Amino acid sequence: MKQILIVGNWKSNKTSLEANAWLQGFKNYDLRFTNKEIVICPPFTLLPILKSYLLNLPAGEAGHKSAVRLGAQDISPFDEGAYTGEINGKQIKEFADYVIIGHSERRKHFGETNEIVDQKIAQAIKNQLTPIVCISEIEQIKDLRLKINDSQIIIAYEPLFAIGSGTADTPENAEAIAKEIKTILDAPVIYGGSVTSKNVKSFTQTPHIDGVLVGGASLDAHEFTNIVEEA
Ligand code: PGA
Repeated sequence: MKQILIVGNWKSNKTSLEANAWLQGFKNYDLRFTNKEIVICPPFTLLPILKSYLLNLPAGEAGHKSAVRLGAQDISPFDEGAYTGEINGKQIKEFADYVIIGHSERRKHFGETNEIVDQKIAQAIKNQLTPIVCISEIEQIKDLRLKINDSQIIIAYEPLFAIGSGTADTPENAEAIAKEIKTILDAPVIYGGSVTSKNVKSFTQTPHIDGVLVGGASLDAHEFTNIVEEA
């Protein structure tokens, strides 16, 4: 059975109270009994709360056996030092194992270029974080000067029209792009853009899509639980 990765990207949403309410509503999964791995990417401020929640789960579900992992939504392109406002890889690694890099919202609103994305990928690898590198077109992969092992990264294909629009790409098109990405890189490919519990299976059942990156629908614990179950 193929391994399916389900990543929830909370973007710039939720206070600590709201995160606690979400955790009460979300069903935990034990990795021993599922082929699904779940990564929650909250804002930086909530990583400690989610990490302590996962550590304090009852024995048998806690720690490495939980199917739930944590990820950050961004990483400093620099090491620790005089970079006001930045959170570096060493700091993220205290709480998380993954980091989303080059999301189209960062490219659009924060001027993130392929050069910065390259630097961030290097920082993630250096700090043993798995980068989830977002691209909206296949050319963006060709532009990235990846100097790393393919096995160290995950590619998230997210077409711009599908992000937050309620109109997902067709599974046929996403599958074709995932297949093409895999001719360039031997890395897992996930699809993102208006994924819900209703359409998730149409993506995860294709041969080349290894999971999904979920934005809006991950904010609701019940809907996210449904997505995990349907995937
Ligand atoms: P969406 O966002 O699921 O709300 O479309 C996906 C993403 O931007 O990662």
